[in-house]
Amino acid sequence: MKIIVTAGPTREALDPVRFLSNRSSGKMGYALAHAAARRGHKVTLISGPVALTPPAKATFISITTAAEMFSAVKHRLPRNDALIMAAAVADWRPSRFSPRKLKKTNKPWRLRLEPTPDILMSLRPRKGRWIFIGFAAETDHLLKKARAKLVAKGLDLIVANNVSQRGSGFEVNTNRVTLIARDGRVQALPLMAKTEVAARILDWLEARFAR
Ligand code: PMT
Repeated sequence: MKIIVTAGPTREALDPVRFLSNRSSGKMGYALAHAAARRGHKVTLISGPVALTPPAKATFISITTAAEMFSAVKHRLPRNDALIMAAAVADWRPSRFSPRKLKKTNKPWRLRLEPTPDILMSLRPRKGRWIFIGFAAETDHLLKKARAKLVAKGLDLIVANNVSQRGSGFEVNTNRVTLIARDGRVQALPLMAKTEVAARILDWLEARFAR
């Protein structure tokens, strides 16, 4: 199978020295990319800025912003079978980029933000034969919010990710997720290593691809 995996955060610049981002370390996405490559799949890893090593055999694309990630995914998708969006794409970016460093003042200051492109949502109308797997990073009403994202983004599987529980979500080596398939099947997994979570997601993907 040919699989695109996205990983890590995006950074949305405010000026040459400041940006908006999030806590994603890339560990979940890189675990997926390494596991897929080890299983003999052809992997394209599209990654935001992280301190991890991509699989030697993968095609590696480094991006910074949500717009760059969108463009890289769109460009590569036609040559692939599946897309796994483990990246924590920034939902907003500063409306204006200042080419010069903004000067500090002592007054309160309002920052105007605009939404970034939603990659999965934008690709939905041309989904066709591709298998789409998304993640839902939630702090409350996990399953309800994840199901809503599965439907809104037209996904085949959503990995509902509790990011408020100890040992789960951003930065840590372990994760606690529930796999929710489009056909309604639900698989609640216990807290486990991200490498093991990656293996379970790939088991699902391989079975779905073989159908
Ligand atoms: O990187 P780690 O430190 O290991 O942490 C792992 C993780 C918590 C980042 C990962 O497991 C995870 O949950 N990734 C998804 C984070 C996220 O952005 O979730 P969301 O619920 O905001 O987005 C839902 C889905 O839409 C995601 O698949 C996301 O990649 C995608 N998305 C989001 C925004 C956007 N503009 N375009 C998108 O396609």
